[in-house]
Amino acid sequence: MKIDIESAYIVLESRNPAAVNNYLGDVVGLMPGEPTPAGAFTWRVDGTAQRVVLTQGAANDATCIGFEAASRAAFDGVVSRLRKLGLDPVPGTDVQNRERRVAEMVRVPAPWGVVVEVVLGLENASVPFASAVYPKGFVTQNQGFGHFVFGVAGADVYDASRKFALEGLGLKLSDYLRMPMGPVELNVSFFHCNARHHSLAIAQIPAPEVAQKLHHINFEVQQVADVGAAYERALATGTPLANMLGQHENDGMVSFYSISPDGWQVEVGATGRQITDNWDDVREYQRISIWGHQPPAVFAHMQGLTSPATPAA
Ligand SMILES: [Fe+2]
Repeated sequence: MKIDIESAYIVLESRNPAAVNNYLGDVVGLMPGEPTPAGAFTWRVDGTAQRVVLTQGAANDATCIGFEAASRAAFDGVVSRLRKLGLDPVPGTDVQNRERRVAEMVRVPAPWGVVVEVVLGLENASVPFASAVYPKGFVTQNQGFGHFVFGVAGADVYDASRKFALEGLGLKLSDYLRMPMGPVELNVSFFHCNARHHSLAIAQIPAPEVAQKLHHINFEVQQVADVGAAYERALATGTPLANMLGQHENDGMVSFYSISPDGWQVEVGATGRQITDNWDDVREYQRISIWGHQPPAVFAHMQGLTSPATPAA
């Protein structure tokens, strides 16, 4: 499959980076990277220098996501598509490029409320990737580092986000979810740009506004055993779970969702379905999971599985 761009990194802003660092290191189990020139913390999942950048600030949310272009032609193609949409992708300054450890980038605000950075020349770390808790590592080769899911409120923003993803970034629709939730409906569009089933998903949440843009970051690992071990780490540390183990219907991923100290979630999963050439399975799904992915409260009658519905302040 021809690869134009892939998910590269996410930038988070937190009022309490120390707590988020403990979560990403001790619970999720990422490998620490070097601090950025501005002093932000970074985390790794492969040979790339930084995949998660954590800055101090008021947002308690994602502020930026990066997509790496596979070539100069791919980079120029995205820039020209964004311009055709009437947008103005702005080149990164030298300081911004050094902060992201890229050779070059453009920055453009996305309709779902974060800045999208399209980059060239994402640097590798000087130290090889190694992880005791993910001995087989993460699925990143030619697929980027995982996926991001953002929530939006209102059909207008949802439609604008889809247009930005499809016509601006040049992503392709994998499939979509329409699920009644009482009198309203949850709509989710899943987008791919390589073999990973989705590198980005946008959810139109059935609420008048979105409290937090970032719903979750997905890290895909090579083996289910590492998902199970991560699940046990979450339980052992008393980390709140949003969804217990389960398997999604559309991408087939076996995963669970834990809740970060800032409220956004991390999905650790394996066995994700691969997108094939000439993908022709764009269809509507009406349920999220084949089995599991229940909130722990469903099993509140079973001792030891209860968990707060919302993360501690
Ligand atoms: Fe996910």
